[in-house]
Amino acid sequence: MRQQLISTRDLPRGEIEAVLDRAAEIDADPGAWYGTHAGQLLGLLFYEPSTRTRLSFEAAIKRLGGDTVNLGAVEASSVAKGETLADTARMVAGYADALVLRHPREGAAAMVSEFVDVPLINAGDGAGQHPSQTLLDLYTIREHAGLDDLDIGIMGDLKYGRTVHSLANALTTFGARQYFISPPSLALPDSVRYDLDQAGADVSQHAELEAVLDDLDVLYVTRIQRERFPDENEYQAVAGHYRIDADLLSTGPPDLKVMHPLPRVDEIAPDVDETDHAIYFDQARNGVPVRMALLDLLL
Ligand code: NCD
Repeated sequence: MRQQLISTRDLPRGEIEAVLDRAAEIDADPGAWYGTHAGQLLGLLFYEPSTRTRLSFEAAIKRLGGDTVNLGAVEASSVAKGETLADTARMVAGYADALVLRHPREGAAAMVSEFVDVPLINAGDGAGQHPSQTLLDLYTIREHAGLDDLDIGIMGDLKYGRTVHSLANALTTFGARQYFISPPSLALPDSVRYDLDQAGADVSQHAELEAVLDDLDVLYVTRIQRERFPDENEYQAVAGHYRIDADLLSTGPPDLKVMHPLPRVDEIAPDVDETDHAIYFDQARNGVPVRMALLDLLL
């Protein structure tokens, strides 16, 4: 197992499956893993808001018997005095056995990886990648729909959505058919599209969900990443366009599974929550066993 999880590009299928298999073992008997990493510390460096990712990493290391050292609010740390990311990370690497980094700049985790020699997990670098989210997404897909012969729609902000970029790379290694659904202005970045094409991905692009709904096993919905838009008017032009509700889903496959990395804003109506389509809260829950597995393998 490699020591750093920066991107799902070139992440071999075998390594992904090792994490998913370990997560399934943990899920089957979580108590057997409690305390197995007593005394180990996870350094949390979150330079951007986070709820699920931060809390599930925290829950994961604590369930394993370890603990966290947490940079906390950036305004309350020496970052506010102008300390560089490289210096902060190098120093926390001296306090902790592994690091989790979230940062608004694309490439931040790759940069930090040059400075630290403890395991490093990229928990989101701007509009770049979010590979540990992908592991829990794949775990959830495997549980509910299977990863073989998968038809998956990925809808919303494909341009700025880092969960999408990581997921698309990884799904390619499983041979999934990927249907990308977005307004033209939020289509996949050329760099991501290039990687998918190079890897022989089976992909198609669509402006409307209705065109592909009947073909799907899974629909992965994403939030429009408002904070990444250079211009609020551009955001307003696309906001609210891709919204699904129970009525719309009733016209599609009865066993379609709907996923979302969360947080949602208004792209999934609350009436979907009570349907059998909704698996996004289970998906969020899976963050703990999957991150326990990841930490167990990296540590
Ligand atoms: C995502 C993120 O931070 O990229 N959240 C998460 O980690 N579950 C998705 C988002 O913010 O829309």
